[in-house]
Amino acid sequence: MRILVLGGTVFLGRAIARQALAAGHDVTCAARGTSGDPVDGARFVTADRSRPGGLSNVEGTFDAVVDVARTPSHVRHMVAELAGRVGHVTYVSSCSVYADIATPDLSEATAPLLPPAPPELDDPAAGVEEYGRCKVTCEQLILEAFPDVFVNRAGLIVGPEDPTGRFDYWVARHARGGEILTPGDPDDRVQYVDVRDLADWTLRAVQEGLTGIFNGIGAPMTRREFHAGFGGDGTLTWVPQDFLTEHDVRPWSGPRSLPLWLPLPEFAGFLTRDTSAALAAGLRTRPLRETAADTLASFSDIHHITGLTEEEEVGLLREWHAR
Ligand SMILES: NC(=O)c1ccc[n+]([C@@H]2O[C@H](COP(=O)([O-])OP(=O)(O)OC[C@H]3O[C@@H](n4cnc5c(N)ncnc54)[C@H](OP(=O)(O)O)[C@@H]3O)[C@@H](O)[C@H]2O)c1
Repeated sequence: MRILVLGGTVFLGRAIARQALAAGHDVTCAARGTSGDPVDGARFVTADRSRPGGLSNVEGTFDAVVDVARTPSHVRHMVAELAGRVGHVTYVSSCSVYADIATPDLSEATAPLLPPAPPELDDPAAGVEEYGRCKVTCEQLILEAFPDVFVNRAGLIVGPEDPTGRFDYWVARHARGGEILTPGDPDDRVQYVDVRDLADWTLRAVQEGLTGIFNGIGAPMTRREFHAGFGGDGTLTWVPQDFLTEHDVRPWSGPRSLPLWLPLPEFAGFLTRDTSAALAAGLRTRPLRETAADTLASFSDIHHITGLTEEEEVGLLREWHAR
């Protein structure tokens, strides 16, 4: 198949392009080329979707297009420029489109969406809610133009080449061993998808002509199962969220944070999406141990992008034991 990846220079886009090439497809990636490089073997076309006509270098027709855009105007321009020239359409959306992040186990069919972004909001980097609203608008624009689209609402994507470092924090932390400060309660749940599993499913959706809207993420697991999946000989010290909040430990990501930890019950729905429709439609997820091992093997140096420093963790553990 002739497959066009709009993006394809970083993480998921690169993984989709890599796996499509491995399956023998003819792959074109279109981007500015500022975020990274396309994988070897893909045709690269320079494109800047921030302006109308920005895809003019993308010539010819394609059996399928995969779009990872998050900016509504980029999707508007794509729709105007590619309509009539592409077969199957995949839009990689996000579970951030959902308005309800507190209720666990909501499915695509039951979870209410955020309102779309107003016309003046075209910057998904403006904030978490702005990102979600922009993704809602992108979905709407694509659904209007291509009603038979495959909308893959990805959840937390992890694995090799993840630019965010969130899952990497736990990979590196378990690899270091010793006493590991672990947030919340062992029965709290967490949810993610390996970038290669999401890419594999996206590619099979393209090949099989799958359409519809799906939560593209693995089934939730308890934090006990999550941490056990890393193996290693570290010991876990579970520290309740109230202590973490009182000691200025931040949730999710960034400096002095515990990545992938979110306060409950406010975020009880965020990492517990019902993913049964995606699993029934062919999403296969590999064991965490494999994702962790491959992620660790992909580190080129000491890996600390986000999370607690060693010093911060030691200090917090000391205070926790002395309380
Ligand atoms: N990471 C997560 O945990 C997570 C969770 C849920 C959903 N998602 C979704 O999953 C997808 C991830 O995609 P990704 O990993 O490939 O990363 P991404 O950061 O979404 O990649 C954006 C791609 O678009 C290109 N691009 C950006 N601005 C452009 C412009 N003006 N003109 C043309 N191309 C442009 C970039 O290349 P250049 O900069 O080189 O142009 C890059 O290849 C996104 O849709 C994201 O919303 C991610």
